[in-house]
Amino acid sequence: MSDLHNRHVYQPNPEFAKNARIKNMDEYHALQNKAIEDYEGFWADAAKEKIDWIEPFTNVMDESNFPFVKWFDGGKLNVSYQCIDRHLKTRGEKTAILFEGDRGDVVKITYNELSRNVNKFANLLKEDFGVKKGDRVVVYMPMIPEAAYAMLACARIGAIHSIVFGGFSSESLKDRIEDAQAKLVITADGAYRKEKPYLLKPVVDAALEGETPVEKVLVVERNNEEVTWVEGRDCSYHELIKDKSDVCAPEVMESEDPLFLLYTSGSTGKPKGVQHNSAGYILWAQMTTEWVFDVKEEDVFWCTADVGWITGHTYIVYGPLAMGATTVMFEGVITYPDAGRPWKMVQDHKINQFYTAPTAIRVLHKMGDHEPSNYDTSSLKVLGTVGEPIDPPAWQWYYNEVGQGKCAIVDTYWQTETGGHVISPLPGATPIKPACATLPLPGIMAEIIDEKGNTPELGEKGLLCITRPWPAMIRGVWGDPERFVKAYFGDVTKNGKPVYFTGDGAVYDKDGYITVTGRTDDVINVSGHRMGTAEVEAAILKHENVAEVAVVGKPHNLKGEGIFAYIVLKEGEVTNEAKEINEIIKKEIGSIALCDDMVFIPGLPKTRSGKIMRRILRSIAKCEAITQDISTLEDPSVVAKIEAIVAK
Ligand code: WTA
Repeated sequence: MSDLHNRHVYQPNPEFAKNARIKNMDEYHALQNKAIEDYEGFWADAAKEKIDWIEPFTNVMDESNFPFVKWFDGGKLNVSYQCIDRHLKTRGEKTAILFEGDRGDVVKITYNELSRNVNKFANLLKEDFGVKKGDRVVVYMPMIPEAAYAMLACARIGAIHSIVFGGFSSESLKDRIEDAQAKLVITADGAYRKEKPYLLKPVVDAALEGETPVEKVLVVERNNEEVTWVEGRDCSYHELIKDKSDVCAPEVMESEDPLFLLYTSGSTGKPKGVQHNSAGYILWAQMTTEWVFDVKEEDVFWCTADVGWITGHTYIVYGPLAMGATTVMFEGVITYPDAGRPWKMVQDHKINQFYTAPTAIRVLHKMGDHEPSNYDTSSLKVLGTVGEPIDPPAWQWYYNEVGQGKCAIVDTYWQTETGGHVISPLPGATPIKPACATLPLPGIMAEIIDEKGNTPELGEKGLLCITRPWPAMIRGVWGDPERFVKAYFGDVTKNGKPVYFTGDGAVYDKDGYITVTGRTDDVINVSGHRMGTAEVEAAILKHENVAEVAVVGKPHNLKGEGIFAYIVLKEGEVTNEAKEINEIIKKEIGSIALCDDMVFIPGLPKTRSGKIMRRILRSIAKCEAITQDISTLEDPSVVAKIEAIVAK
């Protein structure tokens, strides 16, 4: 961090800034100052301007039961109406979703078509499955338009969707289904993904073995691979959708009615169901899409995330559609058939904003330094990154080779829990620095503080917190209010009051810019996917010969972080354990949690009270010298033994 204060500053492209929504830093400061001076007024104005209310709200924010907060009480709306119906008069024939399949097949779905498809889907859910307001529906889908229809159909009838990323295993899916007590699963036979057939339905079948709250499974036919069919439970989407009416009145929802759950990893225990509610979430999804990507009426916006993650929720579906934009949805893998795929798509569809993860940028860079220049990428205006800290070399490549030095890079910092971006440059206003999320967005009171709320010395790391509730803030952990309070409001106070702690460390530079340095808890960020070390450890412990395990993150040049497991066996020499353990991880969590390194050691470094000293294990994994005092360990000699094994 020594050069933190001397990073090169890149000014916004003046041509772009002229027409940007927020044109300069004065406009940024004016907005943020308004929020500081009149917090409720700031949000009330935004909500009145942006949301098509069925009934207006009567109260802006109620924090009397903090951290359980309510926004826009009294207001009534429907999120699918906000994303579809209100555009039909002026944008009915505009493309809402531009879908490109793995094999290059392109389908453009207009707002009129989106409306018909979502209304039919909503009628199907109601008529064939009796789905009602408040019911939970699990969605386990590939990246096809029906995934978006499913989300919006749930929103239309007031059902709460819970999407599970297609890379999760049957056990993970089962856990999430049970926790949410879902009565319906929406899935697909599979999808097209590189050469191999990619199947989802068999994973659902396995997840539903034994006792389950699920009554029915709706299967969207995509790749027509043969899959097993359970009579009476499994239903064909294409059969059922045929005779449905394309009119379904939107359910009238309260501002604080839940919109969706999305399970994410924390530092302890099982993944938690992060709950987002209707009005606050959709407001911020829309506002941030407008501000941070500066999407214009005629623009084409592409976010490469999967709908199974929050980035896909907010910036493939809800944000772009709420503002009436054209959003690209891509089924395949961006490096397939070759590293030119994303740039060819930019050229073919004249994409204006491109939003991806640092891991993807690093992989694309490695596969072809000058690959973007083989295509006409001149339509690009804004490039975004999200999910993990981006390293300066990847940032520079993105800026120079992809953006040709003329595009703003928005390094957007946020989380499943924040609903939308919270710290990010504004493309027409903020002077940017490589690998720096810069400043809080207007309305967001993000600060770096210590546990007692004091600002750390310049250049010192602190805890990244948000000191006032904001509309798109997580509303709860499904079924576990205590965990919600403890996980997010337990560690840091300011002026004696608990504040939201993100779990990330961060540092200010001399200009007050925020650079996020990564998690301070036991969460690992593998290729931008959040993994709890506790979850991976629980899976490894299922191997019958494993006595103890500790998992830590280790820097990885492509994935950002890799998973490093220290394992103590119960007995005998190591034989096939590594392979078997990986099989178990695949089954329990999914391939995304496979270990990059696995070492078998005689014992873990523990204090006399039995606490595992993970810091030591992190240092050893990185091959760093151990600086901490090891004399307090129960058996200090174990450290040298582990070092010797890792050095091999
Ligand atoms: C990390 C993804 C640095 C961070 C939207 C956070 C980032 C976690 C950035 C949330 C960024 C996200 N710079 N780190 N621009 N964006 N992170 O819930 O550690 O999947 O806490 O949400 O990703 O991951 P999640």
